[in-house]
Amino acid sequence: PALISGPKVLAGRRVIVTSGPTHEPIDPVRYLANRSSGRQGHAIATACAAAGADVTLVSGPVTVPDPAGVRTIAVETASQMLEAVEASLPADVAVMAAAVADWRVASASERKLKKPADGAPPVLELVENPDILATIGRHHTLRPRLVVGFAAETDDLLENALSKLARKGADFIVANDVSPATGVMGGEANTVRIVTPDGNEEWPKMSKIEVADRLVARIAASLDKPES
Ligand code: CTP
Ligand code: CA
Repeated sequence: PALISGPKVLAGRRVIVTSGPTHEPIDPVRYLANRSSGRQGHAIATACAAAGADVTLVSGPVTVPDPAGVRTIAVETASQMLEAVEASLPADVAVMAAAVADWRVASASERKLKKPADGAPPVLELVENPDILATIGRHHTLRPRLVVGFAAETDDLLENALSKLARKGADFIVANDVSPATGVMGGEANTVRIVTPDGNEEWPKMSKIEVADRLVARIAASLDKPES
């Protein structure tokens, strides 16, 4: 249940959210992927819709259900995710919560790779995927007014988040510690820090739904400020 049920603080706003992992094929039966349940991104899409926004959710493969009242575009790979996000522009806000695979296999095999009877395992050549957040954050013509990224880190949280903020042209980075001991990965709760060029604030441990609701309030407050 979303906390924001009354005030439609995002009424009339168009929001794009990415969520889930991407799957990068190795062959027809195997893929490379990041760990992501899609819970945080889907909760954000749900909270934006509850706040009156027109929401497009671009999601990689997840088992959580499609949120009600949201246009959901299902994709598999990072390239497809970028294409779907660009096709959904213009938007007022973009929230990139997907755990995008950083690399894909240079040339995925159309046939299942077989284990050789003797000999070494295959060596996969990887190439870098497009950076969806950076592409949108640095878009020359259709940059949304507010671009929000995530940074899931096990070490040097603040330093990494600040460098991602600058490198990708984001307005906020929602940074979280995903060290195994935190239980964030795949779990219900999250402890995040909102990192902006003007400073950062640590939010207490709360559910991913509460993080989503608070983020919506934060986004609405930023949009309501006159453009500088
Ligand atoms: N992201 C993206 N496209 C990519 C990689 C990342 O849109 N190809 C976005 C994520 O959705 C997230 C932010 O960028 O909002 C940070 O992702 P992260 O994996 O932490 O950043 P990277 O630049 O890939 O750095 P790292 O080496 O730490 O993985
Ligand atoms: Ca990455």
